[in-house]
Amino acid sequence: MTVVSTPIASATGAAALSRGVPTSVDTVTVRNLRVTYGTTVALDGVDFDVAPGEMVALLGHSGSGKSTLMRSLTRMTAATADTLSVAGRDVLTLKGRPLRALRADVGYVFQHFNLVPNLSALTNVLTGGLYRAGPVNFLGGFSPIQRSEGLQLLKRVGLEHKARQQTRSLSGGEQQRVAIARALMQQPRLILADEPVASLDPRLAGSVLTLLREIAVEQRIPVIVSLHVVALARQYADRVVGLHSGRTVFIGPANGLTSSSVTDIYGTDGEFGV
Ligand SMILES: Nc1ncnc2c1ncn2[C@@H]1O[C@H](COP(=O)(O)OP(=O)(O)OP(=O)(O)O)[C@@H](O)[C@H]1O
Ligand SMILES: [Mg+2]
Repeated sequence: MTVVSTPIASATGAAALSRGVPTSVDTVTVRNLRVTYGTTVALDGVDFDVAPGEMVALLGHSGSGKSTLMRSLTRMTAATADTLSVAGRDVLTLKGRPLRALRADVGYVFQHFNLVPNLSALTNVLTGGLYRAGPVNFLGGFSPIQRSEGLQLLKRVGLEHKARQQTRSLSGGEQQRVAIARALMQQPRLILADEPVASLDPRLAGSVLTLLREIAVEQRIPVIVSLHVVALARQYADRVVGLHSGRTVFIGPANGLTSSSVTDIYGTDGEFGV
């Protein structure tokens, strides 16, 4: 494996970890992460860290384990690990309410946006705050404070003027911006974006990745984004984690990604926009 940078030390207190209590340090620490589906080994001893304010790109061929890795960070997929810590929580020991709280702390952004198409952009954003507001919110509708917060977030992603428009009539890039605003409404301590630009043209892809990187810095949270295009990782990510068949084969700064490391990740350097 190529490790170009020194992984950051886990800043999470061991005592707090053992209680599953979040500390104030929003890091992701992964050591010896393994996931198997029956006889398929999807992740085979993955190690990496992500610091607050840092955007890390996950690169790897189809089936290399990128989505599995993201799902295992919130226990959507069962995993084993020596350490699996997200926002100060020991993920592997969480159940019930603490597990739901962890999931509510993680903002997801997907390739196909996962918005409710016949609801307005603003209402889609507001749904991101439902867990935080509690069940009473469902009965009473959204408060003026929540609506104002949702509008501020739409403004942040450049879409205040589209607040009342159904998301079905927004462009792909606009829909992804609404999805990012919805994730921000959760006040996330981590953003996981699984191929967020795979359905967008290159210009829109650049604007969405710029937005995600700005959010990482502004909110001081880690952002993990899986990508299929090496050039996008080089241009927009701080660091890259490269997976090949479930193993980490590269960890380092995005600008340290050489054609030989791309070959380690993909097994070829000719087809992936190097
Ligand atoms: N629910 C599942 N049941 C069985 N096998 C699975 C399941 N999910 C993923 N896998 C397998 O685990 C491996 C990793 O899959 P994963 O979806 O994480 O890859 P990926 O890197 O996200 O691929 P892609 O780039 O195509 O999205 C693959 O071999 C896949 O077939
Ligand atoms: Mg995937």
